[in-house]
Amino acid sequence: MTDQSPLWPARLHHMEITSDRPPELIDFYLRLLEGDAQELADGRWLLAGAERSFLFALGARNGLGFSAFAMDDRARVAALRDHVTDQGIDVQPSPSPLFGEEAFAVSDRDGNILVFGTPRGGAPAIADRSPARLQHSVVGSPNMGDLIDFRLKLGFVLSDEVKDDHGNLTAAFLRSDPEHHSQAMFYTGVPKFDHFSMETTSWNDIRDWADHLGDLRISLNWGPGRHGPGNNLFFMVSDADGNMVEFSAEMELMDRDVAVRLWKDEPHTLNLWGTAWMRS
Ligand SMILES: [Fe+2]
Repeated sequence: MTDQSPLWPARLHHMEITSDRPPELIDFYLRLLEGDAQELADGRWLLAGAERSFLFALGARNGLGFSAFAMDDRARVAALRDHVTDQGIDVQPSPSPLFGEEAFAVSDRDGNILVFGTPRGGAPAIADRSPARLQHSVVGSPNMGDLIDFRLKLGFVLSDEVKDDHGNLTAAFLRSDPEHHSQAMFYTGVPKFDHFSMETTSWNDIRDWADHLGDLRISLNWGPGRHGPGNNLFFMVSDADGNMVEFSAEMELMDRDVAVRLWKDEPHTLNLWGTAWMRS
């Protein structure tokens, strides 16, 4: 049962992106986010920040390796592991070097891996160049219902659904703490990595990031605008591999017991200010 899951609250803490040319991708993120990239013993690269950390692994281009959610104590991670097992979901070893030994992973029907754990202590304090906390990751899928049911079993809560005129689900947004969504999915013909987002503290941060991108001669791909579901201000850019990267502010907050809402599948829903990236 969703209300028995110890998942809440959990926040997206770091993620792994796969690429067939990691050096080019890492170079993009070093220019965008600054900081240092560290090669790990297993060949992956870590770009660590105070509120955003990324692993880059050799693999398929445009691959989401995993999304790792931080919880605030090991006992709750252990309780979540028991809850997940009780749901009949297979528990896998954690692929993350940033979480402690209690961490574990699960995989949905499309092979999207979610990791839950507590951040290892002792990491050096790293200042971020500007506020932008890793906040949500999103996939495209032809198996929307399965992916949603899986996350509901884990303890995520549905915030908003988007349906077309025929009643077909085209997007869904789920939360694991009061922020409107930490996971979302769009209907697409094949499973894919859709985008990830970093939440800033204000509209002025959005401006500053856009100015920084301008200095780097990186054009915005979509926005600025305001999403209907989540009500957040946003813009998106594509990274060196074409993965969409979102900067966001003013993400809506919803208590755990607020019921799911329904939106119409139209450009206005995805961008209250105008044109939209329609996935299907
Ligand atoms: Fe987003």
